[in-house]
Amino acid sequence: MGQSVDPQINIHENLKKTSRALAARIATVVRKKFARDETFSLALSGGTTPETLYSILAREYSGSIPWDIVHVFWSDERYLPPEDEHSNFRMARRALLDRVPIPRANIHPVPTETMDPMSSSHAYEDELGSHFDSVPPRFDLILLGMGADGHTASLFPHSEVLRESQRLVVPVQADAEPKRRLTFTFGLINNASRVYFLVAGEQKAEAVKKVLENNADVEEYPAAGVDPEKGELVWWLDADAASLLEEQEAG
Ligand code: 6PG
Repeated sequence: MGQSVDPQINIHENLKKTSRALAARIATVVRKKFARDETFSLALSGGTTPETLYSILAREYSGSIPWDIVHVFWSDERYLPPEDEHSNFRMARRALLDRVPIPRANIHPVPTETMDPMSSSHAYEDELGSHFDSVPPRFDLILLGMGADGHTASLFPHSEVLRESQRLVVPVQADAEPKRRLTFTFGLINNASRVYFLVAGEQKAEAVKKVLENNADVEEYPAAGVDPEKGELVWWLDADAASLLEEQEAG
């Protein structure tokens, strides 16, 4: 990877143990920020993998994370109504946000009903701009997943948005269903203080190896483009997703 420093790699036996370890780390970093500051900016990832993590955060950290300082955004969203079964917002709301004492005003969903995707991307950039003092916005933590094809957020292989250098949030037409999506760009992702990947399953092992050990081309494996210049990059993997890595041992 083009990392200035090699990313940290944490491997656990299965998704549940990996998610539990990640939940503990998230709780630690939020509490540390709470002691020094008044807000914690978190971008949630979508898909299916993080649902276990969100459920653990709701079940085991509802009373021990200062949720009133946490502001939640989404690193990508499918352009669907918020109650659609494929909405990343809906999954996070059911697994986490409805089950912890986070103020409604701290939840910043991508607008997916009132306008077209391009207008929505500008509206979300405006919402980021009104929340953050830093330009570009510097998230305390961005969570990401990765597809078997190496995509992350909704940054897919060979898509022109991989080369976007000005925008923070852009609409994309994905190959995978649902096709219409909005995504953070690398400029926003790589400005974060922390970026944590959560990846599980044998079907991801090849892409994990390509990105972590084979210096993959970003065009082929967009996850290889995640390289926070002044931030921490940590991969949280289950044993199956890490199964092709050299000399790695489960934690
Ligand atoms: C999305 C995600 C996407 C996801 C990967 C992995 O909206 O689909 O943000 O980047 O993280 O596709 O998805 P799974 O966790 O379902 O394998």
